[in-house]
Amino acid sequence: MIKYVAISTAAKAFSLNDTTRAAYRKLGNVVLEKMRVSGGITQPYVDRAVRLVNYCDRLELLAPGDKVLELGTGWVHWEATVLRLFFDVEVALYDVWDNRLLGAYTSWLAQLHDRIDDEFAHLSEARRGQAKKIARQAMHVRTFEELYRTLNFTYVVDPSGTLKGVPQNHYALAVSADVLEHVQGEQLPSYLADMRRCLVPGGASVHQIDLVDHFHYFDTKASPKNYYRYSDKAWRRWFESDVQYFNRIQRPTWIRLFENAGFELDVADNVSAHLAPLKLAPIYRDLRTEDLDCMQLLIVHHNPSS
Ligand SMILES: C[S@@+](CC[C@H](N)C(=O)[O-])C[C@H]1O[C@@H](n2cnc3c(N)ncnc32)[C@H](O)[C@@H]1O
Repeated sequence: MIKYVAISTAAKAFSLNDTTRAAYRKLGNVVLEKMRVSGGITQPYVDRAVRLVNYCDRLELLAPGDKVLELGTGWVHWEATVLRLFFDVEVALYDVWDNRLLGAYTSWLAQLHDRIDDEFAHLSEARRGQAKKIARQAMHVRTFEELYRTLNFTYVVDPSGTLKGVPQNHYALAVSADVLEHVQGEQLPSYLADMRRCLVPGGASVHQIDLVDHFHYFDTKASPKNYYRYSDKAWRRWFESDVQYFNRIQRPTWIRLFENAGFELDVADNVSAHLAPLKLAPIYRDLRTEDLDCMQLLIVHHNPSS
């Protein structure tokens, strides 16, 4: 727990003002780029690529020419790129700050290219061949502008973190991974309502939401749901920060938030791990065991046609 407290305290200190926040992000990206290039593509990214393509195929979410919106596209435009390899779509990449890492992008794309035949063995040879051809066109680019021309992407940074400026009734799919837990809890009702308005009638929304305590990633001795121990007041006072913000929202609330925003649920898959006993703060005491143990939520919805 010493590391946990040290990291959360440092995150609070870095959240002090615009200069410290910018310093944290710059430093974080330098370290991250080194780790991503030297460590190579990680298995969770490969698994989620396969899962995304499978959801899109099984639920028939995309048709040629469709427009896709990737929220919180981050360092390596992962969901957008995977979709573009397997579907003939245009993608708008949305984020709240520019944290792109070209070296990590090209290196991971080249590695994904080499794994397509094994990881996507269930798809036809023609489809895998087409995906590899597109990957080869994109993996040697020298700038992001060249990449966007090659893959038909557009990149938008909107520091407001709202979706007010995104075109309405426009996208066949809104997709994100490890993003929605970083949207301010109070902002989520309007954020999800705006996300639905961006979709065409029948359009789909596919999200991977990470419910793990993000400080656990720095201190794996702390429980992956260590934040269950704290009330909202204590959490805000001691741990919550701008630079490592996550909203601590649990599965039943996510389901309700999407429903209130007008979405209809198609799939809600969990990745779970049984937790060692923890003293729960009152706000978490009513959760059922399966919700307490939910580490990752994979949800697919659609925007009803009427
Ligand atoms: C943990 S990173 C995940 C990045 C990327 N999806 C990935 O998995 O490689 C979270 C991302 O969400 C973005 N983000 C934070 N608040 C957001 C918001 N309100 N709308 C869209 N993206 C947001 C961050 O800037 C960051 O790029």
